[in-house]
Amino acid sequence: TTIAVVFGGQSSEHGVSCLTAREVLAVIDRDRYDVVPVGITTDGRWVEETAVWDDLEPGVLPKVRDDMPPFSWDRIRDLDVVFPLLHGPWGEDGTVQGMLELSGVRYVGAGVLASAVGMDKPFTKTVFSAAGLPQLPYVTIQPWEWDAKRDRVRARVHALGLPVFVKPARAGSSSGVTPVHHWEDFDVAVETARTFDPKVIVESAANGKREVECAVIQDEHGMPIASEVGEIVVAAEADHEYYDFEAKYLDGTSTNVVPADLPESVRQRIREYALQAFDAIGCEGLARVDFFLTDSVGGGLVINEINTMPGFTPFSMFPKLWAASGVDYPELVERLIQLALQ
Ligand code: DAL
Ligand code: MG
Repeated sequence: TTIAVVFGGQSSEHGVSCLTAREVLAVIDRDRYDVVPVGITTDGRWVEETAVWDDLEPGVLPKVRDDMPPFSWDRIRDLDVVFPLLHGPWGEDGTVQGMLELSGVRYVGAGVLASAVGMDKPFTKTVFSAAGLPQLPYVTIQPWEWDAKRDRVRARVHALGLPVFVKPARAGSSSGVTPVHHWEDFDVAVETARTFDPKVIVESAANGKREVECAVIQDEHGMPIASEVGEIVVAAEADHEYYDFEAKYLDGTSTNVVPADLPESVRQRIREYALQAFDAIGCEGLARVDFFLTDSVGGGLVINEINTMPGFTPFSMFPKLWAASGVDYPELVERLIQLALQ
C-alpha cells in the first residue's frame, strides 16, 4: 500500500502542518506502507520533500524547501491513499479534497463539503445554529460591505458590545485574529483580518472564558466516537491575552490539561455536542471541536468551531485527547489510514 503524506501548503499554517507531518512520518508503519512525503511550498508547488527536519530551531517552525524535485500530479493516481495533513485555506477547505476526488484516490479525513464548511467560520455557525448548538453572538462582514456600507457594519457590530474578537472568516491557528477592547481599534483589526481573507467575522468575547476541546474519530464501523475532554490553560505570567499563535506553537506558555477539571456531566455534554457538530457538517475521519465555557451565557457552554484537520504537533491537543482515551499516537495514525482505505 502506497501512502502520500502531503504537508506544508499555502496558508499561514504552513509551519504547523510541517510540524504535524514530522510526527506522523515518524510513526507510520513502514513495514505496512510505502510512504511518499510530498511537500507543498508556500507558493503552492508540490515537491518530493524528503526532509524530516532532524534539527528544529527552537521557536521557529519548519518550512518545505523549494529546491526539491517537483512531484507530478499524474502520480496521484498511482497512490492508494493520501494523508492531506494540511491546515487552513488550500488544504483543509475542500480544494485539495476536490482534486483528490477527481483523481479517484482515497484520502484521510473530511470530504469536500465538510472541509469547506469547517474552514469557513460564518458557514460553520449557520450549520451549527441549524443543528441547535449554542453559540456566542457574531456578525459577518462581507467583502463588499466594508467599503460600501461601513456605518451599517459598525452599527451591527456595536450591538455585540465589547470586547469582541475580529477574525478572518477562513484561517486557522489564530492567524489574523485581534481582540478588540476599544472601538477605535476596530478598523485596524478588520484590516488585519482582511489581509488573510476579504470576508471577516466579529465574535462576541465571553466573560470568564475557559477553552475546552474534544476530538472525534470514526470507529471501524464508521461510527463517530468522542474523546476525553481537555482544557487549554495559557500561563498567567505569559503575555498572551488569549490562546494565540505564539502560545499555541512557539513559546510553550500554554498547557493542555486532560481530562479537563470539570464535572463528568459537563464533559459528557461536551462530548455529545462534539458528536452533533461532527454530524452537522457531514464530517468524516477526524475532527477537533472547540468550545468556550463562559459565565455570561445561560448554561455557560458554547461551541466555537470545528477543525477538520486538527494539528498533531507535539504541543497539540488532538493526540493528547486520544492518548487519554486509550488510543496512542501510532494507533491513531493507523486508524485514520485504515478508515480512509475502507
Ligand atoms: N488549526 C490548527 C492546526 C488546529 O486546529 O489544530
Ligand atoms: Mg480553535
